[in-house]
Order: sequence, then structure tokens, then C-alpha cells
Amino acid sequence: LLLVIGNYADIRFFFVYGVVDEYRRDDFPSEFVFGAGTSAYQVEGAILEDGRSLSIWDTFAHSGVPWYNGENGDIAIDGYHKYKEDIELMADTGLEAYRFSISWSRLIPNGRGSINVKGLQFYNDFINRLIAHGIEPHVTLHHFDLPQILEDEYGGWISRKSVKDFVTYADVCFREFGDRVLHWTTFNEANIFALFGYDYGYSPPGRCSSPFGTNCSKGDSTSEPYLVAYHLLLAHASTVRLYHRKYKAMQQGFIGINVLGFWFEPYTNTTEDVKAAQRANDFYLGWFLNPLVNGDYPEIVKKNAGNRIPTFTQLQLERIKGSFDFLGINHYSTLYVKDNPISLETDTRDAIADMAVTYKFNITGGENFPAQFPVAPLGLQKLLNYVKEEYGNPPIYIHENGQKQPHNVTLMDTPRVEYLHAYIGALLDALRNGSNTKGYFVWSFLDLFEATGGFTSGFGLYYVDMDDKEFTRYPKLSAHWSMLKEHIYDLNA
Ligand code: NOJ
Repeated sequence: LLLVIGNYADIRFFFVYGVVDEYRRDDFPSEFVFGAGTSAYQVEGAILEDGRSLSIWDTFAHSGVPWYNGENGDIAIDGYHKYKEDIELMADTGLEAYRFSISWSRLIPNGRGSINVKGLQFYNDFINRLIAHGIEPHVTLHHFDLPQILEDEYGGWISRKSVKDFVTYADVCFREFGDRVLHWTTFNEANIFALFGYDYGYSPPGRCSSPFGTNCSKGDSTSEPYLVAYHLLLAHASTVRLYHRKYKAMQQGFIGINVLGFWFEPYTNTTEDVKAAQRANDFYLGWFLNPLVNGDYPEIVKKNAGNRIPTFTQLQLERIKGSFDFLGINHYSTLYVKDNPISLETDTRDAIADMAVTYKFNITGGENFPAQFPVAPLGLQKLLNYVKEEYGNPPIYIHENGQKQPHNVTLMDTPRVEYLHAYIGALLDALRNGSNTKGYFVWSFLDLFEATGGFTSGFGLYYVDMDDKEFTRYPKLSAHWSMLKEHIYDLNA
């Protein structure tokens, strides 16, 4: 996610305008949900407490990742001990829903087999309390955190064996929690997990097939990201099939998968750049969405990745097609791309370098990474419109949207308030243009151990004092800016 284009000043501000600026909660359908989210590794800590085993994210965080600044999620923000208080804060904030993930290593420490009773109690109590406070749990099963034991045993997601173990773990979750949890997501950012985890080494498990990768153990081949994506799709489809056959009638819930959706905008209006942006969008979203909606990889992926992609059998394709009740999208920013027919000059800071070579586009911008994601709400509108047009207007949740702000600076996070205000306005526009979006979650509820920057990133609506052994939470302006109460924030009020 550090892929934001270089120079903040380069961002064309026409993107900021043109979206609904004034709105209230009741401009959105009442069944639409507003919430905020986190994930297990990023908040819980207590990594070896009450029977939890390690996950690939624990291992990755201890591997000397430069952008983690020596920090890790060992204690994180102590969410495992502070969850009761956190749920009170959620209620005070007015959250209607909370998106969080279950740590597979806490629930089934051996990856398969016996259930850890303490882990089960923890998530049961968590879910019960959310519900008692009127907050809908939206649960992710895998947020970059496969149990390390399965990575050691057979190479984790590189092996087909992961599929069966994942489905068995999901079955336990549906059986134990599905009477109360009505929204399930199999994988968080499936495309990023395959790409950053196996192309560039930017996420757990930190393998790289790209020549541009740093701080990663060399993968065996450039097909690893495709192999992993293939296994994720198989695991997802089998899990949905299980849920639909065994639980849905009784539990009446919904299940989907999540991908990161940038919006790629052509840097110039030349045909070459327009086509490059199209390729980037088709690859990034289509890699997963096309098999799920249309039953095959997009043409561009088949053509450009060639024999690096494992081929689905007819039966697999039939099972993958339509295997979702909703699609989850994380959206932060719009990136400008240029055509790059040669592509070997791709910027080495660019974490999708190898993919950019394959798909012949360059993310373009100025010299430095900006401290914050660009504010480009029209990009969200365009993204939602693209999903509507290209993928048959499926039910969507915006599972993550938010803005970094350096931790330890100020509780007056006005830029984040403006960002959220603009993006939610864009979402309202998209709804009015027929998008089938069902809910919106701010990332993140609390400042947490950030995937792209340790504790320095400060994505939260609440500041967490990392120097205080109580890890006290303090509301930022954005926590008071309640989307969920009477009014959606009036910046001039
Ligand atoms: C995506 C990931 O799901 C989450 O773990 C991460 O913290 C945010 N984006 C922000 O980078």
C-alpha cells in the first residue's frame, strides 16, 4: 500500500471535486451498514498466550522487515486483554458493524485437529459482546496469517494441502460462531496476499519471485503468485460450497472474499496509456473477480502470464463461478499509470514491479512517497462503476478505506476527516448511480500494528499510547466524527 504515486503535488485535484458533499446517515439505505475494522495480528498481541501458536505473520515480523522499524505484533495494542473496553468504545463511536479476523493459530494451534478451548472462549465472548452492544460482527477467516506450522509442514499456500486445512478450519468457525456471525469473508486481500507475499516479499510469508524483491526469501519461480492465487480460489470456492450446503439455510448468513482495489487512471489520454490503465484494472481486480463472476481468468492474465498460471479443470471453474454472496473491496487510492512496452525500467520501489513487467504498465508519479494516500474520491466512484459494469453489479462491501497519519502527532486528524467525508460522499454518488454496495468500513478502528509500517502509521480513529503500559486509547477528531449517529459530519459545524 505504499505504492501511492510519488508526489502529493502531482495529484490532480479534479479528483477531489464532483462528489456529493453534504449528506446524512439517512441519505443511505437503513440496511446499509457503517463500521470500522481491524485484524487479529494487528491488534491482539498475546501471541503465545492461552495456547496460541505462531502464524506466518509472526515469523515475517521477526525477520527484520525494514519498514517495521524493529517492531512487531507480539503485544500489538494488547487487544486480547482490552477487548471489553474496545467494544465499549465501538458502541460509543456509534459503529453499526465491526470487521475483525479470527486468528486460526489461536483457534486451532496445530493448524488442524483439536480446538483450543481458550481461543474458542475468547472469540465467543468477543462476538457475544458485540451483539449485546448492537454491533454486527463481520468476520474474516484469513488476514495474512496462516499458522506457521502449516508453512513449515508443506509450504503453506504453495501446496494444495492448504485447501483442505482451510476448509476444515472454516467449518469449525461456521459451526461454533455461525449462529451469531452472519457475514463471513474467506480471505482478506487475496490478490495482495498472492502478490506481495510471493512476488515481492512485501507481506507474509515474505517470498519473492520478482527480481525487484527485497528482504525476502527467493521463491522457486515467477509462477508462485499464480499458484497461490489458484489455491486461494480453490479454498474459497470449497468453503463457500460448504457454507451454502451445510449452514446457510439454518444460519441465514452471507459469505464472500476480499480484494484490494486500487483505481488505475491513465496518466495521459493517449490510447497507449488508456489501454495500460485498463490492463492494470483488469489484472488487479480481474485476477480474482473474473473467475468468481465469469468462471475464468481475464484474457489479459491468460495472455500475458501464459503458462505461469495453473489451469482450472472444468469442474473447478464451475464451482468457482458464482461462489460468493458478496465481494469485499479494500480501497485507498488512485494511481496513475503509463504504458510501458519495455517495462524493465520499472521503479524498484514499486511493489508490483514484476506484475508491472508482465502487464506492461508503470505506476507513475514524483520522487517521494507521500506521507498519506492521495485523496481521490472519484477513483472510488469509478472503481464501483467498473465493478458494476464489468462484473454484473454484485453486492459489495467496502471493507477498508482510510488514511494514514503519522502516529504520535495530533489527535486533530482533520485531513482524515476530510478524506473520509469525501470518500463516503463518493460512495453515496455510486449508490445513486446504481452500485450494489451494502456497507462501508473505515480502516482502522484503532491505531494498530500496520502491515506497511509498524506502529508509525496511525490509521486509527483512536490513538493508542504505545508508551503507556495500559495502551490507553484516545479518540481522535475522526472518532467523534460519527458517520453513524444523527448526522454525517458537517465540516463547518
Ligand atoms: C490492507 C490490509 O488488509 C490491512 O492489514 C492493512 O493494515 C491496511 N490495508 C492498510 O495498509
